[in-house]
Amino acid sequence: AVDSKQVGNIHRDYSEDRNASSEDTVYVAGNGAPYPHPYEAQRVGENGPLLLQDFHLVDLISHFDRERIPERVVHAKGGGAHGYYQTTDTLEDICMADLFQAGKKCPTSVRFSTVGGESGSHDCARDPRGFSIKFRTEEGNWDMVANNTPAFFLRDPAKFPHFIHTQKRDPQNHMTHADDSTMFWDYLSQNPESVHQVMILMGDRGIPDGWRKMHGYAGHTLKLVNKSGDWVYAQMHMKSKQGTDFITQADSANYSPDYAQKDLYNAIEKGDFPGWDVCWQTMTPKEAEELWEKQKINVFDLTHVWPHKQFPLRKVGEFFLNENVKNYFAEIEQIAFNPGHLVPGIEPSADPVLQSRLFSYPDTHRHRIGVNYQQLPVNSPRVPYKMANFQRDGQMAFFNQGSRPPYLSSISPIQFRQRSTDLDKVHSHFIAGAVAFLSEIRPEDFNAARALWDKVMDDAAKERFIENISGHMSTCRKEDIIKRQIAIFREVSGDLASRLEKATGVKGHESIADLTFNGTHNGFAKEESK
Ligand code: HEM
Repeated sequence: AVDSKQVGNIHRDYSEDRNASSEDTVYVAGNGAPYPHPYEAQRVGENGPLLLQDFHLVDLISHFDRERIPERVVHAKGGGAHGYYQTTDTLEDICMADLFQAGKKCPTSVRFSTVGGESGSHDCARDPRGFSIKFRTEEGNWDMVANNTPAFFLRDPAKFPHFIHTQKRDPQNHMTHADDSTMFWDYLSQNPESVHQVMILMGDRGIPDGWRKMHGYAGHTLKLVNKSGDWVYAQMHMKSKQGTDFITQADSANYSPDYAQKDLYNAIEKGDFPGWDVCWQTMTPKEAEELWEKQKINVFDLTHVWPHKQFPLRKVGEFFLNENVKNYFAEIEQIAFNPGHLVPGIEPSADPVLQSRLFSYPDTHRHRIGVNYQQLPVNSPRVPYKMANFQRDGQMAFFNQGSRPPYLSSISPIQFRQRSTDLDKVHSHFIAGAVAFLSEIRPEDFNAARALWDKVMDDAAKERFIENISGHMSTCRKEDIIKRQIAIFREVSGDLASRLEKATGVKGHESIADLTFNGTHNGFAKEESK
């Protein structure tokens, strides 16, 4: 037999790829065969037809034809960087995650994004910002797939595709809501539970000044579990060490399309590394029940937020971004975040929108980057143990586990790590109840939005808010939509509604009590309106 060492190594080292440079390289076709010049194409004579035998040309063009993978169906425009997280104040009393034990650190990657726009759209769009972090912990990857706003537009997961379609292009005129806001306001005016998030969006926080100067919020309630299986509900916040700042609607026209990308990239190149504090609000299951009974705030409803005075932030650590990516496609376009990528000690809550996201993200990754998306270098876990499982084959299976049996074998057994919690305790909140299908609009849905208007916005912010909305509504083709939206704002504040009526020249409906919403049951219709 021939000694394979004498004929050379058949195994390629992919880790060199990231540091590729042009030095000492030889131009080759995809099969590695050297080729004299990239511009060549074999033809018959000077003016003759091309030859199908020219693998180099076919390889070049057919690869080019397939360069684009589907862009993300939402959050398509984005950018990010790498860095590290460190625990400064252990959370071990309430959470057993290895990452939150004293002195723990891990490498991280972050991707920021806008939501509605396509891959080439403007960084200064009025839109929430996505804020995703991959924590490469010693117990696997934990992804926090968050936004820069604490609340969300909906609490019924089946509404998400409808809502998103109204933030995208109109099917006929192919305009976005910047030029035709009809679909945008039609959806929102039929789904009043969106009002808190709408007010954040139309206020100063709707256009943050780049990605460094904004906070991040899980929005959803998670569960933190300790070693004895005791658990608390928890909301994660990421507080920018740079503070927060915003860009006004008028000023946004003066910024370049990739402003946020440039701002982050240049800051990191200069050594000015942005950082965020990682904090948690926590709540016992009993407190959660009381919060619902007394204040009508539901921890499974992500249109609601937890009052900070009752549930103060507890800092656990901080992360910094200190390394720009070398290859945008490999390190940002191929990165795949999933709220279901969790590690022991961090669990999802019963929030129905979160539960549906646990399905949606890995499903879209399999479509967008393939069934083996977790093997791509940027997604692959960095754990101190050797990994084994029974996933095999599929497109681009680079980690196919050699000759290890592809079934649970007694001949060559693998090791299992025991679960360290009492499952009865951890899952005790899944109490049975009647099946419910769709949420109902209740008076309490307007409380947070009212506090924003009455207590948070000063006069100048209120003026900008009214201007932002009336400007945006000027392209809405149906007056009745505006009337309905003004009625929703009237439940927030009479002052807000009348100022908006003045600015738009449209008299809104008096109350939402008599309105029917296609999207949501109207609890006001049955009750006395405020
Ligand atoms: C991206 C679905 C709600 C934050 C995405 C993507 C999908 C999706 C399919 C594209 C992922 C990819 O191609 O890699 C949904 C569904 C939702 C929902 C079905 C509700 C039913 C939310 C909420 C938040 C959020 C509530 C934040 C609290 C994000 C972020 C990204 C994203 C930050 C971008 C991830 C990245 O940077 O790669 N979502 N989403 N989404 N979503 Fe959601």
